[in-house]
Amino acid sequence: MNIEEMAAFCKRKGFVYPAAEIYGGLAGFFDYGPLGVELKNNIKSAWWKTHVHNRTDVAGIDGSIITNPQVWVASGHVANFSDLMLTTKKSKTKVRADQFIEDQLKVPADGMSAEEINNLVKEHKLKLNGEDFEEVKDFNLMFETNVGPVSGSSAYLRPETAQSIFPNFRLVQENARMKLPFGIAQIGKAFRNEISPRDFLFRCREFEQMELEYFVHPNEVNKCPYINEVKDVKVQYVSAYMQEKDEKEKSGTIAELLKQNIITSEWQAYWLATEHEWFANLGANMKKFRLRQHVSTEKSHYAVDTWDLEYNFPFGWKELQGIANRGDYDLKQHQETSKKELSYFDQESKEKVLPHVVAEPSQGVDRAFLVFLFDAYDDKDKRGFTVLKLHRTLAPYKVAVFPLLSNKPELVKKATEVFETLRDQTTVFFDKTGAIGRRYARQDEIGTPLGITIDFDTLEDGTVTIRDRDTTKQVRAKIDDLQMIVMKYLQGASFDEIL
Ligand code: GLY
Repeated sequence: MNIEEMAAFCKRKGFVYPAAEIYGGLAGFFDYGPLGVELKNNIKSAWWKTHVHNRTDVAGIDGSIITNPQVWVASGHVANFSDLMLTTKKSKTKVRADQFIEDQLKVPADGMSAEEINNLVKEHKLKLNGEDFEEVKDFNLMFETNVGPVSGSSAYLRPETAQSIFPNFRLVQENARMKLPFGIAQIGKAFRNEISPRDFLFRCREFEQMELEYFVHPNEVNKCPYINEVKDVKVQYVSAYMQEKDEKEKSGTIAELLKQNIITSEWQAYWLATEHEWFANLGANMKKFRLRQHVSTEKSHYAVDTWDLEYNFPFGWKELQGIANRGDYDLKQHQETSKKELSYFDQESKEKVLPHVVAEPSQGVDRAFLVFLFDAYDDKDKRGFTVLKLHRTLAPYKVAVFPLLSNKPELVKKATEVFETLRDQTTVFFDKTGAIGRRYARQDEIGTPLGITIDFDTLEDGTVTIRDRDTTKQVRAKIDDLQMIVMKYLQGASFDEIL
């Protein structure tokens, strides 16, 4: 299935639509439909649960999208957050230079300088629709707006959620009584005025991030107390050196990668493995994941070393999550620009220190959404239609309830009672229209793991049929036991273990 087919599936089923499609949409913007909003919320909840609620060393925040513009001066985004843009001489059509070069010449162009791009354009006489290009230009990706009824009062829509975290570092550390090492997490919208948005949800202009900035003492940037928890995690990887030598990815455990100095920071290794396992535990196909080190030309302006968690999309290996080591860049910049102290008082040494961000797991929600859909989509099932094998944690609806016949009020009444019994516990889809086979198929196509059917026997003996989405296996159970069964299932019991 390619990305266009995925976009068509998402629209047909009510996951995602082009924004305001009746007006022709707007490139790089999307609206999430009834199923999409549920799946997206489930992804965000699963992330928040593992990254914030399950940990004692991470506190959450929810920052504003528009903030004091000095934040973006201090962070370097005003000066550096740009892509190179090629513009045609006549019609002034604009394309993102590195993508255009990659598409035309099939060479990696991320991080190429303006001079290198200009030389390649000249050397290969590159044109767009028969038109020559002007010299390449920088284009800042931040959306600018005015605050209040005053023009010239420029502010920006945040291009990353990370910068809502750094200015609040001191307050959060004090309020949450955090001791180093600790993290601050956030889920929220971010905006980038991409020159060429493409690949559906992969590169949009409005998107959502799940980010965590992990702060450590500057003397302990390489000692991660949790490294043993992940040492046996097996990953595919490709280092900067391997990319220079044109080598394909290899596989190894985190312990091996550290021992061979392929990953040099224990913290980065810990977070890479943790993020890899987050996807694995939610049913992603881990053969399609790899860790890739940034080569020197593609590192962000703030990064000391960056490894990406990548996924093999139908359009190639692409970044899912950048795990940058930002050093003390951000706290230092904000401290200098605001003239406000952002240091941490170390009780043991009685010294003030500026913590380092050793890893910044930064996941695009919309990209995770695509990954889970690609990996769940099964059109080879023997049923002859698509089954969406989403992990139960992510499925928009966990249970569907069907009265066998919609024209039998006693069945509809009983099914309504079952719906009402379960709705406080989880998300339940009530469907009383159409043949029962068609209703099962509809739920299989949207990934509902359990189907419960109320039939004439139910009226006699209070039992219902429960059906498993993935195997179509059916068991008979008592209505009185349904809450317990659904609870067991949601807690991870297999279908065979629920009775
Ligand atoms: N904060 C890193 C990113 O937005 O990619």
